Amino acid sequence: MIASVPKEAVPGERRVALVPELVGKLTKAGLEVLVEPGAGQPAGFLDSVYEEKGARLDSQALEKGDILLKVQPPSAEEVGRIKEGATLIGFLQPHTNGASIRALAERKVTAFAMELMPRIARAQPMDALSAMSTLAGYKAVLIAANHLPKFFPLLMTAAGTMTPARVFIIGAGVAGLQAIGTAKRLGAVVEAYDTRPAVKEQVESVGAKFVELPLETKDAEEKTGYAKAQSEEFYRRQQQMMARYIGAADVVITTALVPGKRAPLLISEEMVRGMRPGSVIVDLAAEQGGNCALTEAGRDVVKHGVTIVGPVNLPSTVPFHASQMYARTVTNFLAHLLKDGSVHVDLQDELTRGPLVTHQGQVLFEVKS
Ligand code: NAI
Repeated sequence: MIASVPKEAVPGERRVALVPELVGKLTKAGLEVLVEPGAGQPAGFLDSVYEEKGARLDSQALEKGDILLKVQPPSAEEVGRIKEGATLIGFLQPHTNGASIRALAERKVTAFAMELMPRIARAQPMDALSAMSTLAGYKAVLIAANHLPKFFPLLMTAAGTMTPARVFIIGAGVAGLQAIGTAKRLGAVVEAYDTRPAVKEQVESVGAKFVELPLETKDAEEKTGYAKAQSEEFYRRQQQMMARYIGAADVVITTALVPGKRAPLLISEEMVRGMRPGSVIVDLAAEQGGNCALTEAGRDVVKHGVTIVGPVNLPSTVPFHASQMYARTVTNFLAHLLKDGSVHVDLQDELTRGPLVTHQGQVLFEVKS
């Protein structure tokens, strides 16, 4: 069977789904690996290195692949070039990409959306979302530091003492915890809040202060470890209680998400007005509607003297390590699917069934768009 790595066609996407060091893992499993020339170049992986590791370069990798390894969902044009009955693994954005999912089913593609991997211990080595959140959390802090007209660390110099920046992180999941660690390493004073009380210990273990809000959050967590949506009244009270922490912060990084829902609105325009001029908000929920009312996805805006950054696809801005991490999760998942060198779809297996969105001409995911 041929496992192919087509070049990513989405503008601005610099990641690649397979890095040279993992080619051997697939060839050892009995697969032939085809890489479209230039596929790894934006991430810093040269064609010649893929070849050295045992892959073949082929400009028709997409058409020839029995198994396609991708980062972004294929365009309609690309779907038309995929072999009927092929297997596709990638971030397929099933919640917002109904037309593409239906087209894949029509093409009889067996498609796996990496973002639907169940959040269970057994699936951790295949958890692409967590890997990408780690990169986003790290990069969010660097973006904030870049915009802030202040130092992050405490500095005692002959020209005076500079107080450390105060960073407030809302949402302390994978991205939030990484943001805390990165801001601490840069010397900031860091506080964090999350609706899931279980997070307090994790926040403290990475050196931040956990902000306790007198809000009832008993029922805050799903069995899966994800946050549950709260009522409008809850979010209103959360805003009121967080206002003073936001007003005191130089940098606010928001990462609050509830799976399958618009991101909760946690920072109102009024709260932005209460921040000091020059403060920075980095809204990692920008692509899901934003945690701040003034966020514009994909843009940096200055409102009431506050810089509000709404980054999209941050992992692609760290493409080398993002590709390395993503490729690791993808090859671990593929190894899980392979039996005697071919893809084996066991619908009873939760790791296989969870991400499976199309199979044998059927759409197996509730497509809403
Ligand atoms: P996420 O990206 O869906 O959400 C980010 C954070 O926002 C979460 O911590 C959530 O509790 C928080 N949040 C939601 N609404 C909020 C609000 N109104 N105010 C403040 N915070 C709010 O989640 P992520 O980071 O992908 O994972 C969350 C948790 O899931 C992890 O911390 C871990 O416990 C668990 N997990 C388990 C995995 C596994 O076992 N394989 C893999 C990844 C995560």
